Amino acid sequence: MTQKQKCRIYSREDFGELLKAGQLAAHILNYITPFVQKNVSTAELDRLCHEEILRCDAISATLGYSGYPKATCISVNHVVCHGIPSERKLKEGDILNIDVTVILNGWYGDASRMYCVGKISKKAQELIDVARNALSLAVDLVKPGIYLGDIGHAIQTYVESRKFSVVRDYCGHGIGRVFHDNPTVLHFGRPQTGLLLEPGHVFTIEPMVNVGEYKTKLMADGWTAISCDHSLSAQFEHTIGVTETGRQIFTI
Ligand code: MF3
Ligand code: CO
Ligand code: CO
Repeated sequence: MTQKQKCRIYSREDFGELLKAGQLAAHILNYITPFVQKNVSTAELDRLCHEEILRCDAISATLGYSGYPKATCISVNHVVCHGIPSERKLKEGDILNIDVTVILNGWYGDASRMYCVGKISKKAQELIDVARNALSLAVDLVKPGIYLGDIGHAIQTYVESRKFSVVRDYCGHGIGRVFHDNPTVLHFGRPQTGLLLEPGHVFTIEPMVNVGEYKTKLMADGWTAISCDHSLSAQFEHTIGVTETGRQIFTI
């Protein structure tokens, strides 16, 4: 079934603004890299990211979003997404996703990537590689005339061929002047279903990949999502726009 979602079409000028916001999100992810070390708490990483966001004349989109308490999401090991930064200190072998969404001049940029603390297991490294490749192959497909279902199908097929699973409970989303908009971007599905892409569409792709089962569970804090079987999880995210001939990645 093709989705009859109303999706905003952004102009060439809008793409310029989205690029600035996206590049700022990417800058924050670069900026924080050397601080990701053992014995550093995720609250400290959040504070450093927040200060840099403010120094760049932007604000955090997550702080106060539906009551969310922090400027970033930091999801460690079996946390799938929306981990709340805390006083918990990182330790050797941890893997973590840092997800930053900024608002710059009213425009949103949303990106995340994985970080490692010291030496990590072979399985953890393989998981991170598969999650990164899943995002990359999905981004490469984006152009006018393909369906969102083509993207979801490609991600699912690749991840499952590597014997990992794709999380179903969280998805990518339209973004622009609002945080979470149409379309819903599933990271699994069937070809030639869902939204038919047109120039001017803007959305995130943000596959979450688990070592074990894809099922997730929400913790009592109402935000932190973990893998049901406590297996490791990894995620990468970009904000991208559909152009006449292909795509523009804003968050690089
Ligand atoms: N940045 C997340 C996303 O990729 C959303 C975080 S919402 C929060 O969509 F409230 F949990 F921070
Ligand atoms: Co997102
Ligand atoms: Co995000």
